[in-house]
Amino acid sequence: MGNIIRATTAPGIEDVAQDEGACILARGGFRTVSVGDSAAALRLPGVVVWELEPGIAAGEVRRGDPLRSARSLFHVAVHVGEVVWDGRTLASLLSGIEEIDLADMRDAGSFRVSCSRVGEHDFQSPEVERETGTIMQARYGTAVDLEGYALHLKVDIVGTRAFCGYQLTRRKGLDRRYRWVYHPRVTLRTPIAYAMLVIAGYASHPDALHDPFCGSGTILLEAAGIASQGGLALPSLSGSDRDPQAVEGARANLLAAGVPGVPVTRVDARELAVTVPERSLAYIVTNPPFGIRLAKGLSLYSLYDGLLGSATRALRPGGTLALLVGRQRGAFNRVLRTYPEFSREHLRIVEMGGVYAALYVLRLRVD
Ligand SMILES: C[S@@+](CC[C@H](N)C(=O)[O-])C[C@H]1O[C@@H](n2cnc3c(N)ncnc32)[C@H](O)[C@@H]1O
Repeated sequence: MGNIIRATTAPGIEDVAQDEGACILARGGFRTVSVGDSAAALRLPGVVVWELEPGIAAGEVRRGDPLRSARSLFHVAVHVGEVVWDGRTLASLLSGIEEIDLADMRDAGSFRVSCSRVGEHDFQSPEVERETGTIMQARYGTAVDLEGYALHLKVDIVGTRAFCGYQLTRRKGLDRRYRWVYHPRVTLRTPIAYAMLVIAGYASHPDALHDPFCGSGTILLEAAGIASQGGLALPSLSGSDRDPQAVEGARANLLAAGVPGVPVTRVDARELAVTVPERSLAYIVTNPPFGIRLAKGLSLYSLYDGLLGSATRALRPGGTLALLVGRQRGAFNRVLRTYPEFSREHLRIVEMGGVYAALYVLRLRVD
C-alpha cells in the first residue's frame, strides 16, 4: 500500500483538496492512477486519497514530500495499512497495529508516534502513542525521538476505523503557513479560505478583490499566496473591518507574510462605499460574524442586508460575492430574496472545527 497518499482537509472541501493534490503530484512527476476500491474505501469526511502509479516507492514519496506546497490540506501521510481491530479497546488496536508491516521503521534511525482520534473509545490518544512507541522500539530496534525524529508513524482513528501511515508533514500542519503577528481567537482556517477563493473563481482568474470582514487577514493572505504561487502579478487586494485592532492586526500579518501594499481600512461592511469605489471589484470574498459576537442592537438580518447592498454597488456587473453564513441561514435567505440583482451560483456546507457553515457564491447580474 506504499503508493497511496492520504491527507486531511476540512470536511466539505474534499473536492478542492483532491484536485489541488492531483495537480501538485502531476507537476512533481508523481503520476497518479484512478483510485482503486481499497484506496477509495479510505475516503472519509475530511480525508482525501491519491493512488500513485505502481513502482513509486513510499521512500521516494517521503523524500520528495510532494504535497508540501498544498494550500487545501492539513496533514499528509503515506498510507501503510488499515488496522483490523474491535473498534473500541486499546489491546485490540495494539495487536492490530502489530499485524501491519512497518518495515521502514527498521532503518529509519529514529521515530515518533502520534495519534489523532475522532469518536468514543476506551482509551486516550497519548496511550496509543506511548504503547505503540514501546512496541515498535522493541520490534524494530529503532529509537524514539520526539523532537528530531526521522520517521513519523501516524495512527489515525475515525470511529471504528484506524489507519497507519508515515506522516510527511511536520507536527505543525500545512495550514499553519503564516507567521501570525495578530491571531484573534476566531480566525478562518487557511484551507477553507483557499477553497473559497477556488470556488469563487478567483484562483483561476485573479482580479480585484476585497474582504470587508477581514479580521486577521486570512482571505487576503491566501489571495496573495495564490497569485504569487501562479507567478501572476498581484491583483488589487484590499480589506476592511469595523474593529481597529483587526485592522492593525491584518496589516501586521500581511507585512509579516511579505505582502506589502494591501490597504486595510476601518469601515463598517454596510458602508463599503466609504473605501471601495463603485463598480471596482471583481470579487468580494468574506467571512462575516456568525452572530455570536455582533454589536449590540445589530441583527444578522440587517448585517446581511447592509453587506448585500454594499456589494451591489462595489462589484462590477458579473462580479462575485462569496461568503460563509453560520447557523442563521434563514435570515440570509430572506435578505437574498430581496436582492434579485444576485444569482446564486453555488451553495455547499463546510465544517469549521465542529461548526457547520454554508458557503454561498453569488453573482451580480450583468443587466
Ligand atoms: C469571523 S471574523 C473574520 C475572521 C477572518 N476571516 C480571519 O480569518 O481572521 C468576523 C470579523 O468581522 C468583523 N465585523 C463584525 N461586524 C462588522 C461590521 N459591521 N463591519 C465590518 N466588520 C465587522 C469583526 O471585527 C471580525 O473581525
